[in-house]
Amino acid sequence: MKLELRGITKSFGSLVANKDISLVVEPGQIHCLLGENGAGKSTLMNVLYGLLTPDSGQILIDDKPITIRDPKDAVAHGIGMVHQHFMLIPVFNVLENIILGSEDVRPWPFIDREAARTRIEQIANEYNFQIDPDAIIENLPIGTQQRVEILKALSHNAKILILDEPTAVLTPQETDALIEILKTLKEQGTSIIFITHKLREVLAIADVITVIRLGEVVGSTTPDEVNEEELASMMVGREVDLVVDKTPATPGDVVLSVSDLYVEDDRGLTAVKGVSFDVRRGEILAIAGVQGNGQTELVEALTGMRPVVSGKVSLNGDNLAGRSVRHILDAGVAHVPEDRQVHGLIPGMSIADNLVLDQIHSPKFGGIFGRKIKAIRENAEVRRKEFDIRSPGIDTAVGELSGGNQQKVVMARELSRELKVLICAQPTRGLDVGSIEFMHKQIVANRDAGAAVIIVSSELDEVIALGDRVAVLYDGRVQDIVPPTTSREEFGLLMAGARSTEATGVTP
Ligand SMILES: Nc1ncnc2c1ncn2[C@@H]1O[C@H](COP(=O)(O)OP(=O)(O)OP(=O)(O)O)[C@@H](O)[C@H]1O
Ligand SMILES: [Mg+2]
Repeated sequence: MKLELRGITKSFGSLVANKDISLVVEPGQIHCLLGENGAGKSTLMNVLYGLLTPDSGQILIDDKPITIRDPKDAVAHGIGMVHQHFMLIPVFNVLENIILGSEDVRPWPFIDREAARTRIEQIANEYNFQIDPDAIIENLPIGTQQRVEILKALSHNAKILILDEPTAVLTPQETDALIEILKTLKEQGTSIIFITHKLREVLAIADVITVIRLGEVVGSTTPDEVNEEELASMMVGREVDLVVDKTPATPGDVVLSVSDLYVEDDRGLTAVKGVSFDVRRGEILAIAGVQGNGQTELVEALTGMRPVVSGKVSLNGDNLAGRSVRHILDAGVAHVPEDRQVHGLIPGMSIADNLVLDQIHSPKFGGIFGRKIKAIRENAEVRRKEFDIRSPGIDTAVGELSGGNQQKVVMARELSRELKVLICAQPTRGLDVGSIEFMHKQIVANRDAGAAVIIVSSELDEVIALGDRVAVLYDGRVQDIVPPTTSREEFGLLMAGARSTEATGVTP
């Protein structure tokens, strides 16, 4: 189906999130929407999916104007959406999640599970999805959960599929699988709107690219006409350094020393199996690996969020293993968590308050007489400018910010304390190229100011760009610690657990 948006405008109070946006998506086209954090991409898609009502503008399908009052209308018109933040019910199984809201109903109150199962298996086969309809959502890897979302949209006969940053949380392998699925869908005539910050993906799959800046369309192009640098500057309106500018590290004394650490996951299985490494003052140790190889548990143990089974974590000689989060923070460890919405922010609270969450007990911002409002507000104004947090003001609830701007709030808070150790898990997930450039500079600046930095990232590009040394984690063990100049092939093998130190002959 052909989709057309004509003159869509949507404001939130005084903020115009979409300003007279028009675009056309042809049948069987992959249309990439590109734009900075807060540019208005999700807003536009939420309008299309009936989650937001536009102030003005029209939506047309096959040249006929339609009215979309809610997602039900959108679904009825053949529009499906995979959201930036998933909307599956974790304790339900795949089948239940897919039929939710559109149950094949037999005479009340029975749901025809078998009919639904057959239909889902048919679609899954058609697109070569490997999904067990009886698996519980929360036990599935994120890439599979996303396939469930896509399956759900397809089971409602979506002819126009919206994917809002589908690859931000995927491993490279999962991303490749997704791209194959999209290509099949496209061949069958499905129109796809694809939002991502990864320019390489855009150039690989887009038929048409539309760039939005500050709520307005600034241009439309195709992969044949542009390269990554040009796309980046179209998005942010200036030149962007896609390469991290960083001098060689001058490591000092060991600050953080981890030895023979064992940690269990939520199910009580050993996830970190005897990990040891040192991080020195003034260096960045990057931890690479396919997600799910113990990274999450390792970081949670280092930051006091998860118990340590055995082993030592020593910060300048002080053993942190098993200490409280508060103790570890106060010892000078800053932490940018992997899941900002769960562990990094309180969505209902203002930007200003979120920026001092960790220091509200300090005399600077709190104390026995309560919060020091003036100091908190001044701090917020400074940080908002410094980190370019796009919002109407410092009183905006963090939950109303765009995904990338939420991440900036977490970073702004964590990087603005006196810190000895900085631990960042997926620090630039969901950020636009301009913000990535900025964050990378901040991380390197902290290194050069003497912090011992640990970066955990599933983006090999980021690991190579930032790390002074790279530890590859596989199955809960440090497979090897290698220089960032190691070849991609070598990294690939290490990440797949195919080689060990002896075999590579590489010494850190
Ligand atoms: N419910 C809301 N209430 C108030 N403001 C909102 C709301 N939703 C979005 N905004 C604002 O609208 C603007 C556009 O946000 P949107 O989420 O569309 O950006 P985006 O392009 O998807 O960014 P990102 O790449 O970070 O996901 C932002 O300034 C955001 O703070
Ligand atoms: Mg968004």
